[in-house]
Amino acid sequence: PTVAVLFGGRSVEHPVSCVSGSQAAKALRERGFEVRLIGLTREGAWVELEPGTEFAMGEQMPEVTAASGEPVVLDLGPGAEPLADVVFPIFHGPWGEDGTVQGLLEIAQVPFVGSGVLSSAVCMDKDVAKRLAAQAEIGQGPYAVLREASEAREKAEKLGLPVFVKPARAGSSLGISKIKDLADIDAAVEKAVEVDPKLVLEKGIEGMREIEVGVVVRDGEVVTAHPLEVLDQNADGWFDFDAKYLGSPEPFDLKPSFEGITAEQIQDVAKKVFATYDCRDYARIDFFLTAEGELLLNEVNTSPGLTPMSGVPQGCNELGLSYGELVETLVLNAAS
Ligand code: DAL
Ligand code: MG
Repeated sequence: PTVAVLFGGRSVEHPVSCVSGSQAAKALRERGFEVRLIGLTREGAWVELEPGTEFAMGEQMPEVTAASGEPVVLDLGPGAEPLADVVFPIFHGPWGEDGTVQGLLEIAQVPFVGSGVLSSAVCMDKDVAKRLAAQAEIGQGPYAVLREASEAREKAEKLGLPVFVKPARAGSSLGISKIKDLADIDAAVEKAVEVDPKLVLEKGIEGMREIEVGVVVRDGEVVTAHPLEVLDQNADGWFDFDAKYLGSPEPFDLKPSFEGITAEQIQDVAKKVFATYDCRDYARIDFFLTAEGELLLNEVNTSPGLTPMSGVPQGCNELGLSYGELVETLVLNAAS
């Protein structure tokens, strides 16, 4: 099948999506697919790039602009020339990972890779996602939702420090701060609301480990990669944007050992989470593991990073599914 990879977009994770999208397109081309590479600028214009265009993270963050290629009219209506046999939307964050682009594709009845509208929207919103996790009795840490900046101090105090201040709908740790002193709360809230007016406060749990599980549907079966552990935390003990993309090329322990819980038990919870949110094709489920062996859901990424450094490609590699095989599996699933 021919594949249209869509990437870029309006969210703050635009540069990450440029890397994910161009790397997936490259791997698909290497596996013999005819690939169209279609970027969305931050202003909302669709641009077709040379199929061989590659983006990498660096001092200069990658960016799709109107000058990156030819304008594309995204006519998905009946009678229009289809974009491709399968669309692979590789956006991270709002306006792409959150059901908006998925809605466009569902209206047009184009097969596409990944979760549908509802699942994408729910997983993008940490507030709504946490409510559904609670209902499904999936463990999670103490948190509070913040709709008014003026409530921040009181709610943080009630949770107890340290507290993570997070935009409710974002990714790649953008807009997130960890505060250990209430005096820093206003600055943290200010930084987060630049990304999203709705915020969540999460209690930071001392000694917790960050665990990520890649989930992929292969031959109709939900398969989980071995849980991997984030090693490349920043000086403050968490996995921020720089640690994710600008830090060590080996940010993970791919085969960590666990105490108080087994890898299989973690994988089972990941599958339960995948089913709870009605995810499709693939996702990455992020957890915290406390020193007592308690597994707490952090969040679900329905369009997880597909940069070579990202968790799903690395976890799947360990599972015997190379990067190329992974993206091919996803495309063929969507096409069938
Ligand atoms: N939100 C980033 C791309 C991730 O989940 O990997
Ligand atoms: Mg995320």
